[in-house]
Amino acid sequence: MLSDIQLESFNNNGFLVIEDFIDNNKCQLLINRAKQLIDGFDPSSHRTIFTTNEQERNSDKYFIDSANKVSFFFEQGAIDKNNNFSVPKQQSINKIGHAQHLLDPIYKSVIDGLSLDSISKQLGIAMPRAIQSMHIFKQPKIGGEVGLHQDSTFLYTEPLSCIGFWFALEDASIDNGCLQAIPGGHKTGLKKRFYMATDNEIKFEVLDSSEYPEDELEMLEVKAGTMIILHGQLPHYSDSNKSDRSRQALSVHIVDGQCHYPKDNWLQSELV
Ligand code: FE2
Repeated sequence: MLSDIQLESFNNNGFLVIEDFIDNNKCQLLINRAKQLIDGFDPSSHRTIFTTNEQERNSDKYFIDSANKVSFFFEQGAIDKNNNFSVPKQQSINKIGHAQHLLDPIYKSVIDGLSLDSISKQLGIAMPRAIQSMHIFKQPKIGGEVGLHQDSTFLYTEPLSCIGFWFALEDASIDNGCLQAIPGGHKTGLKKRFYMATDNEIKFEVLDSSEYPEDELEMLEVKAGTMIILHGQLPHYSDSNKSDRSRQALSVHIVDGQCHYPKDNWLQSELV
């Protein structure tokens, strides 16, 4: 359970860092499980890359269907101009998502044991629904930048209710692309909404065209095992990985089941 000081810090900053939240064995269990899943994945089946900077163009059927599957997305730098892989399969994956917390027994058991429901209730979520999970790799040398964004852009409810739980499975520092966030930036409201314009076309609706104060970004360098809770409207970012070590992380997003969840959100869960 969160203390009053932690709750106040979350409300002021829009994020909260809690060290040693998830033990090393569980981090390793998830890292090993991801390896197994990638071993069983046939990379010739598709070439869907993940980059938030070009999401509008790259949101294909594979991405949309991943709402209810365990799917694999490549790093942009893993595929060359001729559509061939430039790195081994295990180093080619940007992320696995978005329903392993519901479909994979290992992810499910670890995530179910993290008490995210009770933390969410403390943060004002009446009926927590975990609708998305991601295992993010930030691969050595090619791990892509994730542009400055708010998670409520992608997991929109009325009223807004998204909360992100981010777990460092490995140490995250400046050189391997740790999270960065604008303290207090969650108070400025939602700037964009990502929505299905048609059955196979996703667009951004601009709600507020003002710029983010990027010079206020704070580096969140953390050790493996740390949990960072992110308010859905908190602007956050991570740089590309310039180091020779990965920066693996797990993230789980919840929304409030009592809020309206629009039918034109990209993620339509059939499982929760
Ligand atoms: Fe995010």
